[in-house]
Formats: sequence, structure tokens, C-alpha cells
Amino acid sequence: MICSPSFLSCDFQKLESEILSINEAKWLHFDVMDGKFVPNSTYNDSMVERIKKISNQFFDVHLMIEKPEDFVNGYIEAGADLVTFHYEASNNPVDLVRFIKSKGILAGISVKPNTDVKVLDELLPLIDLVLIMSVEPGKGGQKFIPDSLEKIKYLKNKRSQYNYDYLIEVDGGINLETAKRVKLAGCDVIVVGSFIFNQNNRNKVIEELENV
Ligand code: DX5
Ligand code: ZN
Repeated sequence: MICSPSFLSCDFQKLESEILSINEAKWLHFDVMDGKFVPNSTYNDSMVERIKKISNQFFDVHLMIEKPEDFVNGYIEAGADLVTFHYEASNNPVDLVRFIKSKGILAGISVKPNTDVKVLDELLPLIDLVLIMSVEPGKGGQKFIPDSLEKIKYLKNKRSQYNYDYLIEVDGGINLETAKRVKLAGCDVIVVGSFIFNQNNRNKVIEELENV
């Protein structure tokens, strides 16, 4: 599996060295929160610009914001390689996916734990990645929600049945034990925050997570 570390739980006082401490990861996960779609707020597209200066990783941007159509372009211009928005926040997800892809960037769609994954059916032929939230979005360090496994299996079956080619990504409460479970269910990419940032040798943990 691909590990996409979320630096939500890092020490922002020494951001650059924190990012360098996970330089073995091919992907980097940006948790963008606006304080409206989720209670917390984190950072905006200027964070993408700032980190672009010190990293050539694949920028996996997760927008936990309302009206994503109004902000997506800023993240694309700032250097995002993939932009994922929430199904629950968009009134025309098909158009927004088409817009993102028209810019030559990968388009992802995410659902919260209480949203039925079947709402995504019309998007599956178009989308590059589906992000299953395995915690309630809004903060790191929460416990993995096991129902997420059914959503992963659903997406895996749909993909093979219709020959779709989206990636399946899971975000929230991932450690070595839950990483094994989501991999078995069919996950391709794991977002990991606190489990990595609570360790000393972060690059070693990333390698272990990618090879569970
Ligand atoms: C929730 C965030 C977190 C974060 C991962 O809004 O999206 O899921 O990326 O946090 P951990 O790995 O600490 O659960
Ligand atoms: Zn995230």
C-alpha cells in the first residue's frame, strides 16, 4: 500500500524539519479544514505553496471545507497533485470532478462515516480516488471505525465488476493493526497522522505500514 502521512499532528513550530522527517513517504496528505464543514480549521492553500518549496512528494490534498468549488483552483495553482473534496459539501460533484481533471490533476471524492458509499455510484466511472473517512473528520488521534471495512469492500467489488480504475484511500485511526485490516479489505492508500508523528523513527514506521 501507499502511505500518505498527514502532518496534522506534527509540531507546527518546526514544520520544515517535521516534513523532512517523513521524506521517505512518496505522498504527503494535507488536511484542510475551514471550521464550517468540520468544527476545526487548519490551513489554506498557502500551506501547499510553503511545503512545495521543500518537498517533491505527491501532494494529496483533502478538502474538509464547504463550497469546495470556490477554492479548488487555489490548491491546484499552489501545487496539488490530487484534490479530494467531500460528497456532503458539493452540490454538483460531477462538474467539480470534471473541472479538477480538466486541469490535469487527479480528482478524489470523500464520504464521512455516516454517509452511505452507494451515493458515489454515479461518480465511480469518472473518479481517480475515493477517500473513505474511518473517523469523523475534524481531528487526528481518533479511533478507527470498523464499518469502514464494508465500504472498502464495496468499492473494491464495484471496481472489478465494472473495470473502474480509481484508488481506494482510507483516512483516520490507521496504525499497524488497522492497516492490515484495510489492506485485506482492498485499500490502496492509507492516510496516517498520529501513529507516525508519535514515533521517533518515522521513516521506518512508514516503511512498515507500506509493507503490512
Ligand atoms: C481527520 C483527519 C485525520 C488525519 C489522520 O479529519 O483527516 O484523519 O488525517 O489522523 P490520525 O491518523 O491521527 O487518525
Ligand atoms: Zn485527511
